[in-house]
Amino acid sequence: MPLVAGVDTSTQSCKIVVRDAETGELVRTGSAKHPDGTEVDPAHWWSAFQEAAGAAGGLDDVAAVAVGGQQHGLVALDASGNVVRNALLWNDTRSAQAARDLVSELGDGEAGAQAWADAVGSVLVASLTITKLRWLRDAEPENAARVAAVALPHDWLSWRIAGYGPEGESPLGPQLDQLFTDRSDASGTGYYDAQGAGGAGEYRLDLLSLALGRDDVVLPRVLGASESGGVAHPSVAGSAVEGGALIGPGAGDNAGASLGLGMEPGDIAISIGTSGVVSAVAPARTADGSGAINGFADATGNALMLAVTLNAARVLDAARAVLDVDFDGLASLALSAPAGSDGLVLVPYLEGERTPNRPDATGTLHGLRLANQTQAHLARAYLEGMLCGLADGLDALRAQGVPIERVMLIGGAAQSPAVQSIAPQVFGLPIAIPKPGEYVADGAARQAAWVLAAASEPGATAPAWSTTIATTLAADPQPVIREQYAAVRDLV
Ligand code: XUL
Repeated sequence: MPLVAGVDTSTQSCKIVVRDAETGELVRTGSAKHPDGTEVDPAHWWSAFQEAAGAAGGLDDVAAVAVGGQQHGLVALDASGNVVRNALLWNDTRSAQAARDLVSELGDGEAGAQAWADAVGSVLVASLTITKLRWLRDAEPENAARVAAVALPHDWLSWRIAGYGPEGESPLGPQLDQLFTDRSDASGTGYYDAQGAGGAGEYRLDLLSLALGRDDVVLPRVLGASESGGVAHPSVAGSAVEGGALIGPGAGDNAGASLGLGMEPGDIAISIGTSGVVSAVAPARTADGSGAINGFADATGNALMLAVTLNAARVLDAARAVLDVDFDGLASLALSAPAGSDGLVLVPYLEGERTPNRPDATGTLHGLRLANQTQAHLARAYLEGMLCGLADGLDALRAQGVPIERVMLIGGAAQSPAVQSIAPQVFGLPIAIPKPGEYVADGAARQAAWVLAAASEPGATAPAWSTTIATTLAADPQPVIREQYAAVRDLV
């Protein structure tokens, strides 16, 4: 049975799953930490990948590999394949003013926002790569002048897996024209229109040039959903397989998760990770000029509509720190307070916020009364506030006419009994909880299996690996939670 590897180079760590290409059965796994921070030297991603591959028993026996990764990070390379500076990640908000500037350069007020949504599917916020390029041009002109290629975290790691990299540190050297990416991650740059060129997708060099002041940089070739970008260097993967390991196009992490979950139009995934993501697969993207919804591409040829919050799992970490409890302690405290926390409301913009676009906002606690000054009320207010932010995202998707047939909750925090109990009360819908898994890495592995199948049988479809829904939760909706949140959300 051929084996395939799926990689998730995420904000916090690198995770690798090795699976049977035909059945999807999990064979081996490995992971390694990434450093904290919103700017990171990509060399850490490469060493974490190697450590994770070692922990997964090596990749010599895999016939294909694909990489899913955190979206948007700016990996700017010079002509010798070195990064010109540390990568700026999706959650780095220093380019907020650059985003405002670029939006207004396409039109005044709402017209500028709508022009970006029409052009690339998303209104610019600090997360998107293009705003980081403008920041670089303005804040570090010497670095901007050295940029010879612009990649994203997953493109860069795939390039390293193929053997390319900085002069002297890689077997094949800095061949920038060997960089490749996929539609899903390209669609999060702000200079790629996944629906342009009659649906084939195209880079918008005019917009890239608006941001960087020039467009004479190498951009990764955008591959089709099951197209291979090349073969892994035998020192990295596939040395024991005839012909070596094919490298899949990879994907942005949200598209990777959607492939791993086998999402189809009508499915919604709510992911509580470092970012909070409400996503839906749709046949075509809309152009939401309000900016609440990003119209990205998925990893199969559909659109992936997303509402992304910056304040998700880490709001729960903050609650644990404030209350000095562990995850179980937080859950039991929250479950012992009533729905609505007797009027105590947390607006959780602890790191500023992206949806709604308030990069400079702070969190606020409203409705303090003697009667709700208990640890239990506070624990519940943190959970409810975080879930209300995501429920606003679900409403924004609904407002775009996205069909909602099944809602799945994923991410580490989805396993918390308190989240499982309160989420259906806040969302007012039954919530399906898939079996815990590494859905981004799994989606990348599924893509690798698809690439492998398509190599011997052109036109092959993605293998039908099953997703197991562990349980479906229902609860009486508690509209009070969202009503009292809506009453104070905009008072920041
Ligand atoms: C999506 C986004 C985040 C990152 C996290 O637009 O910014 O979900 O991809 O990895």
